[in-house]
Amino acid sequence: MKIAMASDHGGIHLKEHIKKYLQDKGIEVVDHGTYTEESCDYPDFAAKLCRDIVSGASGAEKGILICGTGIGISIAANKCRGIRAALCADVYSAKMSREHNNANVLCMGERTTGVGLAEMIVDVWLATEFAGGRHERRVNKIMALESEE
Ligand code: RB5
Repeated sequence: MKIAMASDHGGIHLKEHIKKYLQDKGIEVVDHGTYTEESCDYPDFAAKLCRDIVSGASGAEKGILICGTGIGISIAANKCRGIRAALCADVYSAKMSREHNNANVLCMGERTTGVGLAEMIVDVWLATEFAGGRHERRVNKIMALESEE
């Protein structure tokens, strides 16, 4: 499994923690930055990761984005065609975002979610499959909104 990750300066510590957590499990991580604590703009890193997911450039089909709250980076990610980003601060939402919404990007906040909970959220999110069925119709309607002017 290959997972893309990115954060701004507000999410870099949790990004580094989760990156190592995944690598220790044998999961390959494509790190799109940021790489320092210097202040930067979260839309730039959301865009890098989302372009990778949508183009298939690195082969990662899912991504994890982190900023201070997870809010800004999730708003930015959801502006990118083909992305369904879910901001999750609890395990139930993480599970449902995969099962019902087929989220392909998980967003979290370093300043709002502790590392232990973040690990559980990531585990559940990666392990849960999309349920399809009636949920597929709804997800298709979400994606159709991208074609509206
Ligand atoms: C950066 O200070 C902070 O605004 C950013 O990480 C994020 O929380 C925005 O939504």
